[in-house]
Parts: sequence; structure tokens; C-alpha cells
Amino acid sequence: MILGPVHGPVATEDLPEHYPWPERDGRPWVRAMMSCTLDGAAAGADGLSGSISSDADGAVFSAVRRFADVVLVGGGTLAAEEYGPSKASEEDAARRAAAGQAPAPVIAVVSGSLKLPLDDDGFTASTVRPIVFTTADPDPDRLAAVRERCDVVQADGDTVDVGWVVERLAERGLWRIVCEGGPSLLRDAAAADLLDEADLTFAPLLVGSENTPRTDMLDDASRFELAHVLTEEGVLMTRYLRGGTR
Ligand SMILES: NC(=O)c1ccc[n+]([C@@H]2O[C@H](COP(=O)([O-])OP(=O)(O)OC[C@H]3O[C@@H](n4cnc5c(N)ncnc54)[C@H](OP(=O)(O)O)[C@@H]3O)[C@@H](O)[C@H]2O)c1
Repeated sequence: MILGPVHGPVATEDLPEHYPWPERDGRPWVRAMMSCTLDGAAAGADGLSGSISSDADGAVFSAVRRFADVVLVGGGTLAAEEYGPSKASEEDAARRAAAGQAPAPVIAVVSGSLKLPLDDDGFTASTVRPIVFTTADPDPDRLAAVRERCDVVQADGDTVDVGWVVERLAERGLWRIVCEGGPSLLRDAAAADLLDEADLTFAPLLVGSENTPRTDMLDDASRFELAHVLTEEGVLMTRYLRGGTR
């Protein structure tokens, strides 16, 4: 760690302490978790984030997930990346149970099209049944297929509001939310002023940005404060906290 509460090496097993979840204050805590390159790309030439990622970055992702209630992603990310299962670990069982958490984070997906890779391990082998948030009137065949593997929560209209998603998750007691993207879902979460924290990794790469979705500008910029910086092999792993009060 080169900036933050300690100065010097941080062991992998200590990473969760540097990405703490707050005490519950009645509000959900939404953290954005993303990697990008020096030229702002969210994916490498193969269209995947793994090609711009590193072991250290992967360790931070895992540390954040360990004590999360939910891993929230957009349908585009699930379609692009092969999501692995969210599995209970014996090591974390007691701490999660004491905090009133399910044995593993639930994978929650926002998708209107429901074109989801339902045979991926994330859907077939996760400890907790995934949740899919969709519109009032999606394709009926796809809806039936998704219902076989997931809980489905439908919005009233033909759009899915991310603030509504966060409220529905919190109602289920799932308030420690890590949003792993992609850029479109995070853009909507930022526009709705939902983000409390942004954990951003900068990979020392220039790859071009053709594979990174373009997103609309926000009406209002939000300011964040830098809480720490970790570095390994030229990769910067930062933690930013929402500044000020809401
Ligand atoms: N570098 C990283 O850390 C990182 C992380 C995640 C993803 N990625 C990369 O980002 C790319 C995907 O980006 P993306 O922006 O397309 O991903 P995304 O935000 O995961 O997916 C966009 C899709 O999610 C659904 N969606 C998102 N917000 C919605 C909303 N408010 N209401 C209804 N549906 C909503 C829609 O799905 P439907 O089309 O099904 O309606 C939309 O087409 C991939 O290349 C992936 O590898 C990188």
C-alpha cells in the first residue's frame, strides 16, 4: 500500500480488511468494481476484462466479494465474460453467518433481453440461486428458461431502473452490493447517484477502446475521495469513497 491506512506490504488474506463493508445504517452500500487501462478501456482486444486484469487485481476482486451480499452485473457483462459460480467457502462461513449473510454472495443480473448464458457455472453451480431483474414483458420463452435457474423480479414497465433494483435487493436484506459493471450498468448507477464507493484498478496498458461500450454523459458529476492505493507490478488498485453527504 503506497497511500492509505498502512504503508507497506499487504497480505492477500488481509485485503478484505482494506475493503470493509460499513455497519448497517438502514441504507444499502453500493460499490463499483472495475478495471480499466491507461486509455480508459474496460476490455482488451478479445473484448474481455481478463485480458487487462492481473493476479493482484483478481485478489482484490475476490476480497471484495468475500463479504458482499450481492454481485450485481448487467446482461452485457454476463454475455461477454464466462461468470464462474459464487460458492460458499468454509473459511468465511462463520463470519458470514454471524453477520446474517447467506453462505455466498448472490449473483444478481439486470437484463431486458434475457439473452443470458444460462449454462455458465454462475447460473448452474452457485451456492445461492441467482436473481434476474427484468422488464414487465420480456420474451416469454426466455423468461421461462431464466425462471428455471433464477429468481426473477419484474419491473412495471419496459425499463429496469437501477435504483429500483437496489431497493428490491435491500428489501431482501441484500445491502452490501458490489456492482462489477459493465460500463452501461455503472453509468446508470452513477446517474442515479447510487454509488458509495468506486474500487478502480488501472492496468499499465494502452489497448485502444473499440471494445469498450460508449455511454451517455451524466448530467451531474459526482466527487469521490481517495481512500487508498495499492500497487503491484505497475498495476494501481484504488479505493475511492463518495465525498460529502447525500
Ligand atoms: N473492466 C472491467 O472491470 C469490466 C467489468 C464488466 C464488464 N466489462 C466489459 O464491458 C463490456 C460489456 O459492457 P456493457 O456496458 O455492455 O455491460 P453491462 O452494463 O453489463 O450490460 C449492458 C446490458 O445490461 C443490461 N442493462 C444494463 N443496465 C440496464 C438497465 N438499467 N435496464 C435494463 N437493462 C440494463 C442490458 O441487457 P440486455 O441487453 O439483456 O437488455 C444492457 O444491454 C464487455 O466487454 C465486458 O467484458 C469490463
